[in-house]
Amino acid sequence: METTIETDERPRVYLETYGCQMNITDSQLVAAVLSRAGFASAARPEDADVILLNTCAIREHAEERVLGRLSDLARLKHRRPELRLGLLGCMAQHNRAALVEKAPYLDLVAGPDAYRRLPEMLGRAGFDAQVDVRLDRAETYGDISPAHDGGVRAYVTVMRGCDKFCAFCVVPYVRGRERSVAPEDVLREVRELAARGVREVVLLGQTVNAYRFGDVDFAALLRRVAAVEGIERVRFTSPHPSDVSDAMIEAMATEPRIQPYLHLPVQSGSNRVLAAMERGYTVERYLELVARLRRAIPGLALSTDIIVGFHGEAERDFEETLALMRAVGYDQAFTFKYSLREHTRAFKLGDTVSEEEKSRRLAEVIALQESISLERNRALLGERFAVLIEGPARRGNGMLAGKTPQFKTAIFASARGLAPGDTVTVRVDDATAHSLACSLV
Ligand code: SAH
Ligand code: SF4
Ligand code: F3S
Repeated sequence: METTIETDERPRVYLETYGCQMNITDSQLVAAVLSRAGFASAARPEDADVILLNTCAIREHAEERVLGRLSDLARLKHRRPELRLGLLGCMAQHNRAALVEKAPYLDLVAGPDAYRRLPEMLGRAGFDAQVDVRLDRAETYGDISPAHDGGVRAYVTVMRGCDKFCAFCVVPYVRGRERSVAPEDVLREVRELAARGVREVVLLGQTVNAYRFGDVDFAALLRRVAAVEGIERVRFTSPHPSDVSDAMIEAMATEPRIQPYLHLPVQSGSNRVLAAMERGYTVERYLELVARLRRAIPGLALSTDIIVGFHGEAERDFEETLALMRAVGYDQAFTFKYSLREHTRAFKLGDTVSEEEKSRRLAEVIALQESISLERNRALLGERFAVLIEGPARRGNGMLAGKTPQFKTAIFASARGLAPGDTVTVRVDDATAHSLACSLV
């Protein structure tokens, strides 16, 4: 940490993060910005001079959780009025100054493009709350290396914002226009991470494969990252189906360090619903893409995102979603009840599916995916995989955990001399829907 101030005197910041991986990485960016400006970090809100919540706005439930947490933290502030409380991220951008009315104890509201100005805002915060929700088409934070957590895998943001404007989604409004980080900045960060022991990088963006900087498209970026000395595995998330190029598939098929796993959000299996969602593809085109990917990339694993109960989703549309899930045979699916979001194109259309019906449909997609995941994992019994060791398994008892190339969690007994960052070969002995029990070979 580069600072001249005595450790004891530095203001301490407690940072809590909600939402997606991009937000987690943004929090590491905020930590780096504040550390440079002479702030220290606090492990608990009770020990902090500044509490910041980095928030998500994707569904109503995400915002409710944060408001609940905020009112808890307001009690701390009541006891210690000098404590400063701030809201960062997508929900800050979504609700803006209205937040200060809802939560008058907030001292600071900063959107995703305002993080460079945080030290200044914190320096100024007095009686009036500081609000900065200017979106900036050019801000990529490319020159700032986020504080790394020390693991063998690191996430690197390569593009910010989204230009797709899917009818249900708030991201383009809270994260602003699409922009890519200069390849030199991406590569500098990846080299720094490799030097610190990182073996796997995951390139991040809301539509990561829309990456373009000058002549460098996403496929070219993938190849350059894969060539960085010390990096053994490269992944990325989330690609948009409409932006998958032949060059991207070719890079995955021919560059052994690019891992055979894709998170390819489909959202619905009904063409009527996909059109209303303004996703820009049909079921037929999506399935054709999946077939092309599987032909080119042997052993490819696929996961997806699915929304149930979107405006106008009839029972037969929902059944088409179930049929698509069976047809593709996803390894994993993240499933959500549709949540109406202010500012989005679908907002004015309202809800047509009741909460009870959404819950029923959600339970059904979850149950179906569980059975598909289990079946797909059980089909791997006896097979061998290279696993990059991440650390002790969550359940403990001397077991180690890591990921297969397909991003499946493998759990196996430790052996002398093995450490995080090592790659071992394992054989699958048993499987659940969520992990593989393995032994070293
Ligand atoms: N950029 C990614 C998705 C980011 S948001 C992509 O396009 O693939 C992650 C997921 O949240 C989405 O894929 C979608 O399934 C879900 N989601 C987004 N908006 C939602 C809403 N209003 N209600 C319910 N789920 C939503
Ligand atoms: Fe949202 Fe669509 Fe952009 Fe994904 S591609 S972030 S779902 S608008
Ligand atoms: Fe991520 Fe939530 Fe923002 S999903 S981009 S933190 S709205």
